[in-house]
Amino acid sequence: MAETAMLRMKTVRFAIIGGGLMGREFASAVARWPTLLDAPAKIQIVALASRTPESFDWFTSNFPSIKQTTTDWREVLKNDAVDAVYIAVPHDLHAETYVAAIEAGRHLMGEKPFGIDQRANSAILAACREHPDVFVRCSSEFPFYPGAQKVCDLIDAGAFGKIIEVKTGFLHSSDLDPNKPINWKRQIATNGEYGCMGDLGMHVCHVPFRAGWIPGNVRAILSNIMPRRPDGKGNVVPCETWDNATLLSETRDASGNVFPWTLKTFRIAPGERNTWYLEIYGTQASARWSTREPKVLEILKYTPGGDQIWQRIQVGYEPPFKTITGANFEFGFPDCFLQMWAAFLHELVDGKPLKHFAGCVTPEETAMSHRLFTAALQSQRDGAVVSIR
Ligand SMILES: NC(=O)c1ccc[n+]([C@@H]2O[C@H](COP(=O)([O-])OP(=O)(O)OC[C@H]3O[C@@H](n4cnc5c(N)ncnc54)[C@H](O)[C@@H]3O)[C@@H](O)[C@H]2O)c1
Repeated sequence: MAETAMLRMKTVRFAIIGGGLMGREFASAVARWPTLLDAPAKIQIVALASRTPESFDWFTSNFPSIKQTTTDWREVLKNDAVDAVYIAVPHDLHAETYVAAIEAGRHLMGEKPFGIDQRANSAILAACREHPDVFVRCSSEFPFYPGAQKVCDLIDAGAFGKIIEVKTGFLHSSDLDPNKPINWKRQIATNGEYGCMGDLGMHVCHVPFRAGWIPGNVRAILSNIMPRRPDGKGNVVPCETWDNATLLSETRDASGNVFPWTLKTFRIAPGERNTWYLEIYGTQASARWSTREPKVLEILKYTPGGDQIWQRIQVGYEPPFKTITGANFEFGFPDCFLQMWAAFLHELVDGKPLKHFAGCVTPEETAMSHRLFTAALQSQRDGAVVSIR
């Protein structure tokens, strides 16, 4: 199936497995595909598998190209009209569905954390190694914001000098409400022991890993701030997963320079709402960017003896994949999600990313995140610094 898809690349035909929040985001990105100028390929959704048949209607009424709907995800992998799959299901299903898709020769965009734990992730990586002709990537969209891309351009240019410190994070706050009912993302059986690191962690690792920065060890402080929640049926039940994680890691770049990298993944960060940030401090330059103020990029360029001045630069609509949208308009979440999909299609067709930081997370990068999060769990258990191998 993989080779056939390469020959037919003008339109890549997708099945969606998981018709929830992210399944719909993907479909809406496909609906906006014509906004891309020079799109690497066309994309068509032809099949949908979701556990809940009630979710079918929204998809089929908006996407007449969908000819197959089923509650059994294995059925879409048997469909000869399917070249590729987007799988957005609870974490306990990642290994089984991803491995089956890869073995069926379907190109795969899988959601993070790419396996509920390290063992599940290793099974997915093994399937990738056995099927090198299948293109596999993990979803992570925030680096495709123009402001984040500009920081990445500075990394590529070596503009920071010797790196002093890196901070990345992803902060939410809706779980501050103690009355918010529990869902699968708050339960170990379906979300995994990583808790908030499984949900949010890949997002904060994407840029550092692509930069080639390797965490050597980690000291983690994990918090379960709301250990009980309503179940939405009148009961209060245990809420077992970690709400917040702060990780401090001694991290090494390609030159051998070791610096502290602080990662935060918070579900309970008062006042924050989907705040993804990237801060890099170096001897020659420093940069800060966040989705909190997505048009503002802060850069400090330093020459010895000179003043240390933070510049606030307004960033326009200047994403890696050009679109019909004017450069003066604002860029938002649906735009970065569309850009990520353009990157997936570009690399599928071209065999390489448009540029170093305009590529989706690789399976090997997900494996590194699992090494980090597994070590973080051990660090929390032992109250100690844990080496990452
Ligand atoms: N990239 C991002 O920014 C982002 C954001 C949110 C979630 N996610 C990830 O996306 C994935 C899904 O999260 P979501 O928020 O869309 O969850 P969701 O609960 O909204 O949707 C999950 C869907 O999976 C379906 N499902 C469950 N079991 C199934 C089965 N056996 N067969 C077929 N379908 C099944 C459910 O019916 C539901 O439609 C997770 O891995 C999550 O971490 C990514």
